[in-house]
Amino acid sequence: MSTSPLAQLSQQTDELLSSIASLTTLDALREAEPALTGKRSVLSTLQKSLGSLEPDDRKAAGAQLQEARRTVEDALEERRAVLVREERLVNLEADRLDLGDVVVSEVPWSLSVGHPGLVALTQRELEDVFVGMGFSVADGPEVESDWYNFEALNIPPAHPARGMWDTFYVDLGEPETVVLRTHTSPTQIHLMEHAVATNSLPIHSVMPGRCYRRDTPDARHLVGFHQIEGLVVDRGITFGDLAGVIETFTRAYFGPDISSRLRPAYFPFTEPSAEFEVTCTICRGEGCRTCSFTGWIELGGCGMLDPAVLEAVGIDGEEWSGFAFGFGIDRCAQMRHELNDMRALIENDTRFLGQFS
Ligand code: FA5
Repeated sequence: MSTSPLAQLSQQTDELLSSIASLTTLDALREAEPALTGKRSVLSTLQKSLGSLEPDDRKAAGAQLQEARRTVEDALEERRAVLVREERLVNLEADRLDLGDVVVSEVPWSLSVGHPGLVALTQRELEDVFVGMGFSVADGPEVESDWYNFEALNIPPAHPARGMWDTFYVDLGEPETVVLRTHTSPTQIHLMEHAVATNSLPIHSVMPGRCYRRDTPDARHLVGFHQIEGLVVDRGITFGDLAGVIETFTRAYFGPDISSRLRPAYFPFTEPSAEFEVTCTICRGEGCRTCSFTGWIELGGCGMLDPAVLEAVGIDGEEWSGFAFGFGIDRCAQMRHELNDMRALIENDTRFLGQFS
């Protein structure tokens, strides 16, 4: 009866492991490696000898040998890691400058590759949802005249609604007042003026971008934040179309378990107007600090275009009607990713930012 070529395998494996443990330098490890796991190693010789076995025996012996090889290779890699660490420390010690009490050591460069932040990613996702619903995407200026930010939107000077959007005024020494826009709604005016000038109505567009307000930063407010505006001007548009778009958006973006509701509200440029709210995703409607214990988070405002706005841009309100909406992109990111404080978006903590690459 012939003995199995693997009869000594356990002992041979132990010998290999103790050879590995006795290696004290990386050079010695590199030199020993071919004999430990390479083509001329005892493991490779045993492998070749399996060819003489019956198929069933060969299969079982092959698995056993594979297991032994994995054990040896793992031990070799562990030893390599230990020696790399040890030699790095020795080198550091050798590089140390003797400056009395001052210890100088090299800080190795680590290059980390950047990626778009959570707000930019959210903006792209929102654009994708609306493009999927047939909207185009347009841009507007961040620095606006008083006309675009307020007057054309039916908010004349001294109108009390200006208090809702307290902002930063830019003094350019010109007669016209210039402001950092407080919302993306002025882009509606640019789009409608352009469509009138180029005779290219209807409009179905969304307009994302940065806005500024003199708000006190808190869990749901920033001074520089982002909104996405929506504008539809077409024939025969009704409030039902607006509600349908809001609902379709909510389901597409937040998923079927988050619901939306429209509550009557006031905006000078829409009539009727509504506030668009979604279930607070932090507490799932139970009530928490983020939603001021209401269970709902206001995402934005919306409504049917006020005839005064259509008139300001020269659109015939008898022929055309439409709706607009505008909501916070940062607020969407906050709700979607369950951030209990929006200020995390601007704190530049890489432990936070890195989660959204
Ligand atoms: C407006 O800005 C209107 N322009 C919305 C609108 C558009 C109404 C079209 C009708 C038709 P409001 O001030 O409520 O409305 O702001 C809308 C949303 O922007 C808020 O619900 C919130 O999601 C976001 N937002 C407002 N202020 C801040 C802030 N300081 N920080 C972060 N997000 C904010």
